[in-house]
Amino acid sequence: MSTALLYAETEPFEDGRLAFLRDVLAGLGQRPRRLDCKYFYDEEGAGLFDAICELPEYYPTRTELAIMRENLDEIAECIGLDTTLIEYGSGNGRKTRLLLKQLDGRCTYVPLDIARQSLEAATRRLQADFPHLRIHPVCADFTQPCALPEPAFDAARRVVFFPGSTIGNFHPAEAERFLRRVRQTCGRNGGLLIGVDLKKDPGLLVPAYNDARGATARFNLNLLARINRELGADFDLDRFTHYAFYNPQAGRIEMHLASLASQIVQVGGRSFRFNLGDTIWTESSYKYTIDEFAAMALHAGLRLDQVWLDDDHLFSVHFYRGL
Ligand code: AVI
Repeated sequence: MSTALLYAETEPFEDGRLAFLRDVLAGLGQRPRRLDCKYFYDEEGAGLFDAICELPEYYPTRTELAIMRENLDEIAECIGLDTTLIEYGSGNGRKTRLLLKQLDGRCTYVPLDIARQSLEAATRRLQADFPHLRIHPVCADFTQPCALPEPAFDAARRVVFFPGSTIGNFHPAEAERFLRRVRQTCGRNGGLLIGVDLKKDPGLLVPAYNDARGATARFNLNLLARINRELGADFDLDRFTHYAFYNPQAGRIEMHLASLASQIVQVGGRSFRFNLGDTIWTESSYKYTIDEFAAMALHAGLRLDQVWLDDDHLFSVHFYRGL
């Protein structure tokens, strides 16, 4: 039998908007100017991200799915039965569906996502397809510490699922802090199943963030459109352009929005001056070697148990156990 849906909000709506305004004002006041990539994912942005995942240039989604399909038996064995599967940033739940099918819906599933409508829709679809699955969705910002609903602790063990190389969007120190929190959540007996994008030829990496159809540009610019919509700012979207490149020293893709003119923008009653070519840094997407990532996880109390790769070594899926 399915259980009632349970929503744990981190912040009521009005506080969420105030936090957004506070972060935007602080980020635009810094040098380099920054906006937090978590704000990409309003309903519009979540839809644009789904479109990115289908692009021919954006290899991570299809490669991770293929790795999971190829190795489902071993992956399910690592997860085990009598497990609560906790997914951070669950999105459209496509990869989860594969796992749940393999586990025959015999687990408790706790999806956590900041985008309420897509979380609700994905929960309804999953519940319809897996009527016996116990689902306890949590509408929350997983970049912040967040309490899990009590039923998450009923099963014998907890496994955190964090696909898509979303870990790459954290700076390494934050990534390690996040992994420490995962270790606390899953405990000694639990695990982490995580997708990690790998270092590779920049000739493959750069087009993944500069697609020919302009979907990534729309995704990036939607952040300014969202600030206009929700905070009453007056960014002129025709006077900013998407700019993404690989920074080999730091091992990351950087996404920026570059000003195409000398201009002043009003946000929350404050004025921000941009010179021609000034940028707002909107996202980092770190790429790792398997050894680099495993060393960071070990620092956080998680030991690498298994790793699965595609033939071209574009992407990796790792299973860690709590130490
Ligand atoms: C969600 N995250 C892992 C994506 C990435 O590849 O860093 C977000 C993204 N940004 C541009 N394209 C996709």
